[in-house]
Amino acid sequence: MEIRVFRHDDFEEIITLWERCDLLRSWNDTEMDIERKLNHDPDLFLVAEVAGEVVGSVMGGYDGHRGSAYYLGVHPDYRGRGIANALISRLEKKLIARGCPKINLIVCGENNAVINMSEKLGYEIQDSVLLGKRLIEDHEY
Ligand SMILES: CC(C)(COP(=O)(O)OP(=O)(O)OC[C@H]1O[C@@H](n2cnc3c(N)ncnc32)[C@H](O)[C@@H]1OP(=O)(O)O)[C@@H](O)C(=O)NCCC(=O)NCCS
Repeated sequence: MEIRVFRHDDFEEIITLWERCDLLRSWNDTEMDIERKLNHDPDLFLVAEVAGEVVGSVMGGYDGHRGSAYYLGVHPDYRGRGIANALISRLEKKLIARGCPKINLIVCGENNAVINMSEKLGYEIQDSVLLGKRLIEDHEY
């Protein structure tokens, strides 16, 4: 298994992976999410490759204050082998190298599997509320 930076030719494969991981949301334009990322810290967008196939991903970021991780997903056939662990660990190393003091992982809803996994990786549930505001509508309703 290799962890590497996302390449443009992974585009179709990663969208298929995110479909399998149930990471696509109607209010996000997935292609646009990828294009935006490729214009902003693209080397924090990591994939896991096994035998030439993209089987995992994490889209990391650093805003100068906090690091973040989105689109963490591992193909169902490859779960439980430490791939998410390896993706997060590599992202953490890259963030530390940039001087990022803390990473936040946003878990949607009551995703207990991810909460359990994250706690094993040293993450703690924080006593704060996440407020969001859409600035650009990706879709017209
Ligand atoms: C969550 C997800 C990324 C985990 O990927 P994975 O490659 O199977 O995880 P790993 O094998 O690296 O496991 C990391 C740790 O979490 C634990 N873990 C993994 N899945 C778990 C689960 N369902 N319940 C409890 N613990 C779990 C593992 O035991 C491991 O701990 P260990 O190192 O002490 O053994 C994967 O299940 C997934 O893609 N889920 C759907 C997408 C999703 O919900 N993403 C998160 C959006 S916020």
